[in-house]
Amino acid sequence: MTIVDSGAPADTQEANDSGIQSYLVTFIIRRFDPEVDAEPRWVDYDVEMYPTDRVLDALHRIKWDVDGTLSFRRSCAHGICGSDAMRINGRNRLACKTLIKDLDISKPIYVEAIKGLPLEKDLIVDMDPFFESFRDVQPFLQPKSAPEPGKERFQSIKDRAVYDDTTKCILCAACTSSCPVFWTDGQYFGPAAIVNAHRFIFDSRDDAADVRLDILNDKEGVWRCRTTFNCTEACPRGIEITKAIAEVKQAVLRG
Ligand code: SF4
Ligand code: FES
Repeated sequence: MTIVDSGAPADTQEANDSGIQSYLVTFIIRRFDPEVDAEPRWVDYDVEMYPTDRVLDALHRIKWDVDGTLSFRRSCAHGICGSDAMRINGRNRLACKTLIKDLDISKPIYVEAIKGLPLEKDLIVDMDPFFESFRDVQPFLQPKSAPEPGKERFQSIKDRAVYDDTTKCILCAACTSSCPVFWTDGQYFGPAAIVNAHRFIFDSRDDAADVRLDILNDKEGVWRCRTTFNCTEACPRGIEITKAIAEVKQAVLRG
């Protein structure tokens, strides 16, 4: 099985019982221990990997077999919880959804924490500023009236489809931490907060769109977006983030 797109394959290891070839893959991880290091440092690890392994599996092997101090977040390991967003070869991805066979293992694989949020340790950043922006846009249903007794709030399939894309967000921060505006201006709400505002602004059952649009019509709101598309490219859920931001801008202009 060929698992590299270009260049020579990495060191080939023995096939396992099922005949699948393994490879020795070099990971270069940006480590930082605030109690010891003045600055982050890059550390190499050679790990035996199978093509169907993920970068998260490599991190587990390093942590469990080589250096238990390696720190990173993960929970579900299946692309649902959003806790293991990191920069892999310079691109924001979920480690649990990045397969070894999709990377060029003829070269080292660089792994580092996402950018724009304070680095705490190794691959862990402080997510508080990210979640503050999320909370600021009031991401919860705010209807003015109660539903009829014993009835659910009605919503047509057509009305539901308007905001379907932005319901898929798992709050991984891959978008916000790939945004150059967010890197240079930590005050910007960032794409994830706008995506989650969109999810409620366009919900026909909600009555607080004007409040959220007013919040996002701030100097650190939607107008800071420069439409670089980094966010859309980074999103592991395939959300059309730039389109959602444009729809929120249009809604602000319509009042
Ligand atoms: S919009 Fe996509 S990239 Fe951004 S936080 Fe949600 S799931 Fe992650
Ligand atoms: S560990 Fe949950 S999304 Fe990757």
